[in-house]
Amino acid sequence: MSDPRALIALLEWYDAVGVDAVVLEEAIDRLAAPPPTPVGEAPPRWPEGGEGAPAQGLSPRPDRPVQPAPAVTVTLPDEGAVEAARAEAAAAASLEALREVMLRFEGCNLKKTATQLVFADGNPAARVMLIGEAPGREEDLDGRPFVGRSGKLLDRMLAAIGLDRSSVYIVNVVPWRPPGNRTPSAQETEICRPFLTRQIELVDPAVLVSLGGPAAKALTGSADGILKLRGKWQSYRVGERDVPCLATLHPAYLLRQPLQKRLAWRDFLALKRKLDEIGG
Ligand code: URA
Repeated sequence: MSDPRALIALLEWYDAVGVDAVVLEEAIDRLAAPPPTPVGEAPPRWPEGGEGAPAQGLSPRPDRPVQPAPAVTVTLPDEGAVEAARAEAAAAASLEALREVMLRFEGCNLKKTATQLVFADGNPAARVMLIGEAPGREEDLDGRPFVGRSGKLLDRMLAAIGLDRSSVYIVNVVPWRPPGNRTPSAQETEICRPFLTRQIELVDPAVLVSLGGPAAKALTGSADGILKLRGKWQSYRVGERDVPCLATLHPAYLLRQPLQKRLAWRDFLALKRKLDEIGG
């Protein structure tokens, strides 16, 4: 592509559709023909729909130099490193020590594409701990959770019941932004779980609030959808204590489905009642 304007337009389009992270150094030519078959051997078959398979209905161009698609290297976290992180997280005696452990941790692939660790925001001494899904683009650049559009809505929802960032502590299930804002995988969630567990133990909140389905699922282990889980108090074991835990809708979902704000409003009123009940 020789026209720089065309290149800029292409990059802007990628950005608009959420492709804003480069995962591999080399692009994969998915239309490349397979390598030539040695005489006497059956030609290899593309795995159906698998990595490197030509797109449906497109045949490799016979005039192209034959070029196998490079294998995608997915680095699976080393079990030993994950176990070590688990032990280190469990041993972290303070939030600052936990943050240091997470900064050194190399066992989660999300860290490779993220700009930085998004540890937490708010007041660690707050009674309410909010748990989101994962940092988005703005959070990845800023280093704090919920600073983008959904964060602004979250701030307004909190203000409606008299709370702000000095009266809540906010974290995410995974502290590194998934590329393109995709939902963290079950494996990524499990790898990061010791960090979340320890963060909850160290903050020791009076009430936990999960924002959206993935956070509710990570806390309760339930396979139910968020519309079923929301608005019901459950409990989450922290050390010797059962902490009341409420699932509500994610602000990003509310931005897409504004009519559902009435459900979130009910949940926030339930949160306010619980805080009044608990006192302190
Ligand atoms: N969505 C989340 O779940 N967390 C953030 O920090 C931002 C958006």
